[in-house]
Amino acid sequence: MTLRRLASGIVLHVLLQTVTWAKLTPRTSFINGNPGRVLAMFNPTGTWNTTTLLLSDDGNKLYVGARDTVLSLDVSQRGVINMRKQLKWKTTDEKAKECSMKGKDKETECMNFVRVLQFLNSTHLYACGTYAFNPLCTYIEAQTFSFVNASNGEQITEDGKGRCPYDPYQKLTAITVGGELYTGTVSDFQGNKPVISRYLGEEGRVDMKVDDSLGWLQEPMFVSSSFIPGDRGNDKVYFFFSELDKEYDFIKKFTVSRVAQVCTNDIGGVRILQKRWTTLVKAQILCLAQNELPYNVLQDIFTLLPPEGASRDDTVFYGVFSSQWSGNSASSAVCAFQLRDIKKVFDGEYKQLNRDTQRWRARDGVLLARPGQCGLHNDTDQALTFVKENFLADTNVHPMGGLPSLISSDQRYRKIAVQRKMSADGKQYTILFLLTETGFLHKAVLLSGGPHIIEEIQLFKEPQAVENIVLSVKKGVVFVGSSEGVFQVPVSNCSFYWSCADCILARDPFCGWDPVKKVCADVSLTESKLAQDVEKGNVEVMCSSSIGPRARFPSQQQLLLDKQMTVSLNSVLKLSCPSISHLATLQWERDGKPVSSEDCVQLQDGKLHFLATNQSQGEYVCLAIENGFRQPLARYVLSAIEGPVPDPSTEDKEEGQRVGEDKEEGQREEKPIIKQTSSPSFKERSFPSVNKTPNPPGTEVPEKSSTNGPSYYKELVAVSIFLALALTLLLVGTLYGWRQRNRGKARVQGCQKSPKKNPEAGSTPEHVPLTQDHGPVSVVVQNSQGTGGKEHENNAQHASNGHLPSAT
Ligand SMILES: *[C@@H]1O[C@H](CO)[C@@H](O)[C@H](O)[C@H]1NC(C)=O
Ligand SMILES: *[C@@H]1O[C@H](CO)[C@@H](O)[C@H](O)[C@H]1NC(C)=O
Ligand SMILES: *[C@@H]1O[C@H](CO)[C@@H](O)[C@H](O)[C@H]1NC(C)=O
Ligand SMILES: *[C@@H]1O[C@H](CO)[C@@H](O)[C@H](O)[C@H]1NC(C)=O
Repeated sequence: MTLRRLASGIVLHVLLQTVTWAKLTPRTSFINGNPGRVLAMFNPTGTWNTTTLLLSDDGNKLYVGARDTVLSLDVSQRGVINMRKQLKWKTTDEKAKECSMKGKDKETECMNFVRVLQFLNSTHLYACGTYAFNPLCTYIEAQTFSFVNASNGEQITEDGKGRCPYDPYQKLTAITVGGELYTGTVSDFQGNKPVISRYLGEEGRVDMKVDDSLGWLQEPMFVSSSFIPGDRGNDKVYFFFSELDKEYDFIKKFTVSRVAQVCTNDIGGVRILQKRWTTLVKAQILCLAQNELPYNVLQDIFTLLPPEGASRDDTVFYGVFSSQWSGNSASSAVCAFQLRDIKKVFDGEYKQLNRDTQRWRARDGVLLARPGQCGLHNDTDQALTFVKENFLADTNVHPMGGLPSLISSDQRYRKIAVQRKMSADGKQYTILFLLTETGFLHKAVLLSGGPHIIEEIQLFKEPQAVENIVLSVKKGVVFVGSSEGVFQVPVSNCSFYWSCADCILARDPFCGWDPVKKVCADVSLTESKLAQDVEKGNVEVMCSSSIGPRARFPSQQQLLLDKQMTVSLNSVLKLSCPSISHLATLQWERDGKPVSSEDCVQLQDGKLHFLATNQSQGEYVCLAIENGFRQPLARYVLSAIEGPVPDPSTEDKEEGQRVGEDKEEGQREEKPIIKQTSSPSFKERSFPSVNKTPNPPGTEVPEKSSTNGPSYYKELVAVSIFLALALTLLLVGTLYGWRQRNRGKARVQGCQKSPKKNPEAGSTPEHVPLTQDHGPVSVVVQNSQGTGGKEHENNAQHASNGHLPSAT
């Protein structure tokens, strides 16, 4: 019944195909190793496919399963990854040959990809590799980090069939409990014989398998498994996967996501279900929002243990889902499932499989046993036959709150790690670390008003076929294993936030403003009381002691950029504004009033562009408006001098673009037309500039216009004015065309005559509503580079959105 309802619900969803959620834009982006977010990376030559990660309990050692090797890394210090020891584990030439004879690729498949790496007990690790399509497992002594050898001196190996896939790209899950290995994978060469198994039992404990006579698994993709201890004899292992569902046969190949469970004390039946699970049951987990296609394909699960003192039933499984119908549009969702709800579903009714028709139906007979109950192995034949046919729970598991915790309309999230974090005011926040398909790590915090993406950090360059994420709460770092290397990312960098307002607006639970030291500080490392407002990001309240509620710029305001400039008349000026947030709207003021179109053109990337005249003198201030707060970022005080100053060798000098960094790198030292002096209050900083959109060809031209000798002064003034005007027109035209190409871009404010309304942007760029964070105010990413195919689309977007280091 419920299924019918769901099925019709899905049809309805297909038909509706409607509302997408507001775009979630990361507040800050760190691209290509931006110095604001220093990463440690491990990728020595001769090491490939470092994808399988295992972190020691103390967080000091990271074991890595890679191609033909197992590594032990020292990660005891933040920011450094050192090799401790490396174990080579190559396939024999004979096996490699066999593998390529069977039609597999010698260079990419017929090697040993170590895909299973687990602690077996306090002294040993267990590792399994694909071993040239001939999976093999082995033991590693943890202390010495060496393979365990038999008495004849040879490395002990075991058949890895059912423990590790043959194909290095195949998904799997493996977990050890009490020295036994539980796996979900495929157990044949072709990869179409899925199994959920248990191995390595002590004497008298047989290996266990799923009874597949009734098609228990349908082309499953295993993503995760988790051990949850229970009371007396109720310890369980949960498996998470997606599979095809034959129930919905009106939709071809309909995928459903599942949770399955087994009891660890299951030893199989006596006559029926010998060496087969008697406690294995499954249920559907649902992740769907109203008016959207269901997010039905599970990608990853993270098990968040309950806070200390809470019931085990408060364990939460955070899952990342995508939709099988999303097509080329990248979208995904995060849903959180409580153990309590999963247990309830498994304690309820089960559907019965009709052996003849292979169809599910509601149970009509008497209840002969309770499927999923631990201890069934000792039950009667009738009872076991009953559980054999009743293994699919009748009801579905719904996410906490009934809805996804996060929906992204433009990111395909692949992996997830979650942590609870106590904020400065003692509130608990849930922080999600999400790995995107395109190699970015997103850090999001779940707020009562919806999720907020604090930052994104670029890790790898190419989408990865196999990747893993491991969170070390103890060390405050996230590890990501990929074929491009192992990355270590600190969970936060509070010192990146430059002002109280910036620190508060970031809404990062790890960071708070120290009003005494005047720094944005790490919450867990600071004794003194920090100002923080994760929920609302209210700067006025939190920073009142720092800025004073009515403190009017520029008094003692901290600025990112403060410049006095002498400009020559009729030169074309381009003032730029350091960008601090994608969620901010930039606005320019001149002598305290919004700049008008008479004076300027404000470019869509936030730059102010104009021809210097006598009226141009004054104080220009760029403000970032975010979450209702106006924060001055940069100030230029302009004074003009007579006439054009000739200097044929000069190029346009763009002001304010990551000035600190340019100076550090000693670039752009050429003599500018514009003479400038930095005022003493100017603070040098490096920033990921949002406004580094590559200039379209032609926009640089006007600056070269004043390359004239002084002797032809009068004519040239006239000519250059004319030229400058013509070129300004050309520029506006170019910009207009450019804008048309790059629709729905960053906003323009202040200049009333700036390029026309963009029909797709929804609002006129000139009047941007100051809506909430997740609203349309954010700087919308664009793809003006047009590089690469679909796969690289996101990289291109990010790159062109201007977070590349400014040296272009
Ligand atoms: C944090 O940010 C500051 C300021 O941008 C930078 O100097 C520092 O290197 C960063 N630290 C890390 C660990 O990313
Ligand atoms: C191994 O790494 C290479 C790139 O170095 C990549 O092309 C390949 O897909 C990776 N294979 C697996 C199984 O991860
Ligand atoms: C751990 O497992 C290995 C391999 O089975 C075994 O040799 C060793 O004795 C075990 N260690 C402990 C402490 O149980
Ligand atoms: C199985 O049941 C028999 C009798 O019903 C009992 O003697 C035996 O201890 C049980 N075994 C287990 C493992 O529970």
